Amino acid sequence: MGWFSKDIATLDDLFVHTSRDIYYAENQITKALPDMVEKAPSAELKRGFETHWRETEGQITRLKEVFRLHGVEEKGVTCPAIDRILKEANEVAGEVEDKRVLDAALIAAAQAVEHYEITRYGTLVVWAKQLGRNDWASLLKQNLDEEAATDAKLALDGINRKAA
Ligand SMILES: [Fe+2]
Ligand SMILES: [Fe+2]
Repeated sequence: MGWFSKDIATLDDLFVHTSRDIYYAENQITKALPDMVEKAPSAELKRGFETHWRETEGQITRLKEVFRLHGVEEKGVTCPAIDRILKEANEVAGEVEDKRVLDAALIAAAQAVEHYEITRYGTLVVWAKQLGRNDWASLLKQNLDEEAATDAKLALDGINRKAA
């Protein structure tokens, strides 16, 4: 189903489609995070990825709750954007040998993921409110806040990283 498919007629349809997009993305991210934990050269970054891995499990649970409250089937729709971001992260990380540079590459890749999630959740929170569903909005806002906090931590890691 494409973005402008005739299956999407209302803001509510768009909300469901976009929730399924980020649900798919979160599931891809949980599959990618163990690899990032393994690749991260610094103990601090490893810990950061592990923490966000656990958070991601919680975010998936909240999305399931949104589907349940909405009364729609809990399922994902393929999101080519996150697939490409994760693929690029893998490719770049595979090419870097210097540990400090690899740290920087992984931070940059992870920030790209967080920014994708922030844009999706930011939109979904606004739409949930427009649809009069503060219950959906509050669950999605919790995910949004975790992504924003993770992005801020990653940015700080990047700044504090010893120069190569
Ligand atoms: Fe997430
Ligand atoms: Fe995230």
